[in-house]
Amino acid sequence: MNKESGVKMSNFDMEKLMLLSKQYGFVYQGSEIYGGLANTWDYGPLGIEVKKNIKNLWWKRYIQETSNSFGIDSAILMNPRVWEASGHINSFNDPLMDCKSCKTRHRADNLIETFTKGEVTGDGMSNEELMEFITKEQIKCPKCGEFNYTDIRQFNLMFKTHRGVTDDSKSEIHLRPETAQGQFVNFANIQRSQRSKLPFGVGQIGKAFRNEITPGNFIFRTIEFEQMEYQFFCKPGTDDTHYDFYKQFALDFFTDLGIDKDNLRYKDHEKLAHYAKAATDIEYKFPFGWGEINGTHNRTDFDLKQHQTHSKTNLEYLEQETNEKFLPYVIESTIGADRAFLTVICDAYCLDGDREILKFHPAVAPYKVAILPLIKKYHSEKAQELLQKFSKYFMTTYDESGKIGKRYRRQDIIGTPFSITIDDDSLNEGTVTIRDRDTAEQIKLTVEEAITYVENKIRF
Ligand code: GAP
Repeated sequence: MNKESGVKMSNFDMEKLMLLSKQYGFVYQGSEIYGGLANTWDYGPLGIEVKKNIKNLWWKRYIQETSNSFGIDSAILMNPRVWEASGHINSFNDPLMDCKSCKTRHRADNLIETFTKGEVTGDGMSNEELMEFITKEQIKCPKCGEFNYTDIRQFNLMFKTHRGVTDDSKSEIHLRPETAQGQFVNFANIQRSQRSKLPFGVGQIGKAFRNEITPGNFIFRTIEFEQMEYQFFCKPGTDDTHYDFYKQFALDFFTDLGIDKDNLRYKDHEKLAHYAKAATDIEYKFPFGWGEINGTHNRTDFDLKQHQTHSKTNLEYLEQETNEKFLPYVIESTIGADRAFLTVICDAYCLDGDREILKFHPAVAPYKVAILPLIKKYHSEKAQELLQKFSKYFMTTYDESGKIGKRYRRQDIIGTPFSITIDDDSLNEGTVTIRDRDTAEQIKLTVEEAITYVENKIRF
């Protein structure tokens, strides 16, 4: 992708991004006409195309192109014992504190993360350590500016609901807070039904829910979001190599999506979760600071062991060559689809003079092609015919109103990589003019050549 001709805007902030998103139909506030619902957002016609493209490219990279990889789509509602075994019931908590002056509720680790612009995450710190840091740095309430907090207490992040007609605790079930447990509980099913030998990977894309109470920085932190999670099952002893591989694999995924390397960094977890042998995040430099977009975790055999114990089902793998039985280790590579979307749109924004451009990788752009009749009166009939033709191959949009220069600008700001102008030559010779969004260069091609040209350019 050529971002050379565009200058990244230094004062591009979340406010501006939210306005742009609403104006052009990428993302709207959830339930807006009722005053919204905190930390919920709806994807509009353009946003859903970008997000769908990111998810398809993830699937292509992690499932389709990776040998011995399988996809699943497991249920959001799971047996409550899954969450006891996984540890979510006891320890999926956030450290909360209230400002006694203005009554705003804060996540102690987020206060630290925002204050240090992502340099210190608060990950793995105990309540005492968090409080000590906040007190030492005198981190004031971002809402009212006072330093007047309650003690920190733990708050479980899982949403509860009930099945059936009674509201008692026996009927209580949870919305899943991560998709990964679907991979773990189906490990034996997948291994047997696919007759798969270790190592192999299982991925899925799906909704997850967390009762996040703190402000979310637009779609960065929401209560309902999509995860693209991949669990790689391997023999203990080979796990370190696979961990290094998937750390790099995730970074390559983002740079291949066109994200500037300088805006990405690894961040090793300072304190590891009790089950993890190693954990690294990839962070992106958002307008509000560095934020996690991916995690690579060596989860050892913790999850399978827990599910084996709690379900009393043998989940061991029999290695035929050695006749050895063991529980596989798991390397997890997880990406939030909404954070990937936010990364892609933040990184795409450029200003070239006063020309605003979203320089999406063509594979990610909502529309690949815009069909623009040069003069409505003469060329719109042919343009409509070509709209039908191009729509068979690509997401294609159409615009016949206003001067051609203005129409190019409208395509630039929504990130359409190729604008196709229909003029007299199209009527007489069957050619069209393709304008490249990033260079503004134009070339003349036949319709068939134009289709092949776009097909080649959008390949990932
Ligand atoms: N199975 C491991 C797991 O769920 P996580 O770091 O809690 O790990 C994985 O979440 C990814 O999901 C994160 O890297 C992030 O991209 C995304 N994510 C987590 N919480 C989110 C939230 N509240 N809103 C949007 N995305 C979120």
